Parts: sequence; C-alpha cells; structure tokens
Amino acid sequence: MAENVNRRDFLGMTLGGIAAIGVGASLVAMKSSWDPLPSVVSAGFTTIDLSSMQEGEYRQVEYRGTPVYVIKKTAEMKKCEERDVVVGNADYSLGIQICTHLGCIPSYDSKSTEFHCACHGGRFDACGKNVFGPPPSPMAIPPFKIEGAKLVLGEEGPEYLKLVGKA
Ligand code: FES
Repeated sequence: MAENVNRRDFLGMTLGGIAAIGVGASLVAMKSSWDPLPSVVSAGFTTIDLSSMQEGEYRQVEYRGTPVYVIKKTAEMKKCEERDVVVGNADYSLGIQICTHLGCIPSYDSKSTEFHCACHGGRFDACGKNVFGPPPSPMAIPPFKIEGAKLVLGEEGPEYLKLVGKA
C-alpha cells in the first residue's frame, strides 16, 4: 500500500513537472510571436545623410519596406513651397515613391526630372506632384525630422507637421 502511494506521488510529480515545462514553453513561444521581428524594430527609422548630395542628385532609400526618394533641387528646378523640405540653404524633394493610382513604383528620369509610372503612364514632377495620367494625387510625404544635415524618416518633426498642415 505504501509503495502504491509513493508510486502515485512520483507519477503525479512527474506529470506535474512535464505540464509545467509545457506551459513554460508555450508562454515563451507566445511571447516570441507577439514581439516584433528584429527587422521591424530596426526598420522603424531611416536616416538620410544629405551632406554629400550634389545638386540635382536623386537617391532612393528604403523606409519601413517602402521606397522613399530624395532629390536635392537645382536652382533651375521648380520650387514647391508646400512640399519642399529646406535643410540649410538647399531645397529637397522627399516622398514615398509609390504611384497614387494603383501602387506601382514609378522610376525617376533625371533628364526630364519626372517620375514615370510604367503601369498606366502616370507622371509626377520632381516635387512629387501628379502631372499626367491617372494618378489622382501627389506622392505622399513620409514623416520626417531634420537633424543637422540629416533627415530622420519615421519621426514627425515640426517641418513635417507644417508641410502636412498639422502645425
Ligand atoms: Fe501608376 Fe497606374 S499605377 S499610373
């Protein structure tokens, strides 16, 4: 009889231990599925160093998985008061390089200083404004903050808030 009780106790403790390990492993697995992927955490902000950009230069960077363009404007390029980002004494055009028609990625043509969308022929000027074809609106401006000669994408600085009419 005493041996049965001891065996039952042993089985109970063993099963309890296995169950506790199972619960612990489940909690660890649940937490890791809730946590953002490391790539998502590090992709939160994108910094663009403007100091080495030449006049007329176009650059594309990736910001939260989407292409963002920045163009350092030349004196000949049209100014867009309501969209230009002024850093130091230079004007930059900045936008999410996604066509506002159906989401294709337009390519930038440095000769015409326009973005051409191959999907349905839409065009945007160097300010990112739709100037031809089906795109219904300008390309969006990503949230940004100016830090010296750098643009930090992902933060809503005062210059961004002013451009989008939130300030
Ligand atoms: Fe660009 Fe249609 S998706 S014009």
